[in-house]
Order: sequence, then C-alpha cells, then structure tokens
Amino acid sequence: MTQQAATNIYWHDTAITKEDRQKLNNHKSCTIWFTGLSGSGKSTLANAVENRLHELGTRSYVLDGDNIRHGLNNDLGFSPDDRKENIRRIGEVSKLFVDGGSIVLTAFISPYKDDRKVVRDLLDENEFFEVYVKCSISECEKRDPKGLYKKARNGDIKEFTGISAPYEEPENPEIIVETDRFSIEECVDQVIIKLKEHSIIY
Ligand code: ADX
Repeated sequence: MTQQAATNIYWHDTAITKEDRQKLNNHKSCTIWFTGLSGSGKSTLANAVENRLHELGTRSYVLDGDNIRHGLNNDLGFSPDDRKENIRRIGEVSKLFVDGGSIVLTAFISPYKDDRKVVRDLLDENEFFEVYVKCSISECEKRDPKGLYKKARNGDIKEFTGISAPYEEPENPEIIVETDRFSIEECVDQVIIKLKEHSIIY
C-alpha cells in the first residue's frame, strides 16, 4: 500500500454518517467489484445490474476502467505498478461512494489478487462483493469488441491481459458469473439475488 505522505493531518468525523444516509435511501451501500478479462462483459453486466437497481429505486453509480482512465487515472498505463495504483485509487473512490450511501459497481480487469485484496480490506464486511466475470480467453478473443486482442497478437499492444500479461483468477469470489454460458439477464439475476440475500436491498 502507498504510504501516507502528509503529516499533521487529523481525521474529522462527519455530522451525517453512512448509516444516516443508508436509512434515508432505504437500502445499504456496498461495492460490487466486477473483475475479469477484457471482453468478458464486465461493463455490460455492471450497466445491466445498475439498470435493474435503478428500477428498484436505489442509488447507484458505475465506475468503469476505460472511462476512469480518460480522467482521474489518465496518468496511468498498464505496468503492474500502474495497475496497482489504478485499483488502489478506485478502491478509495468506491469507499467514498459507499460512505455516501450508494451501491457502486466497478468494472476493472483488476488482474492481480493482491490489488483486489487491498480493496476488500478497505471496506467493511458485507460491503464488498467480488464478482468474477468468467469467460474463456478464446471467447473474449472471438468477441474482441475493441479489436485489442488482434492488436495484442500482432505485438502492437504490450502487456495485454491474457496475452502478454497475467490474469489471476479470484479464489473465493462472492459471485461467479459465466458470460459464455449464461445470458446477461441471467447473470444480472445472480447478482441481484446475492444483494437481497445479504440484505443490501430489500
Ligand atoms: S486494469 O488492469 O488496470 O484493471 P482497466 O480495467 O483499468 O485495467 O483497463 C482495461 C481496459 O483498457 C481494457 O478494457 C482495454 O480496453 C484497455 N487496454 C488498453 N491496453 C491494455 C492492456 N495492455 N491490457 C489490458 N487492457 C488494456
């Protein structure tokens, strides 16, 4: 973890707490962390789950790797250290959203176990749901929605996850959705059921 650089800083408790906000919203807040290969369906699924949550009247927000890399994280590339920093920042942003009372859905490859563990440890119990968006590399490569696998195979993109950089599968995710076997709607159902089981939504 990155060391705190500043000294002489003090935590200030807020007047309104996370619990106050959750009570107002009438649902709990949490992070639903989608991890998986590029093209596995993380963004599609995160957006489909958010649609369902929106219909149910909950407060939610999607943080998406490609989008965040256009702004907050536009100084980061794809080396292991940059990916680690990418995930650390998103972990911190997610924690703020959870504190703000929202259900935050993150769609990042997040290929390293240790980096995902850092985020898990940042959040309280029952606030972090790791969703392994499982899809074979051959299917992802077949889909290749952005043409990146082709470029990676040609050597035009270095350190591409699944081709020239590793993806470490989650060992104990809260949810595994297999997007090469089930429809998006079926995968959405799986996530929503889990949130109900854990009394995040009612
Ligand atoms: S992560 O590994 O740091 O979690 P993140 O999810 O933010 O990655 O960004 C992944 C997206 O960046 C992919 O969906 C793809 O569109 C794009 N991308 C560009 N270069 C690479 C690369 N070398 N490896 C993986 N994804 C890449």
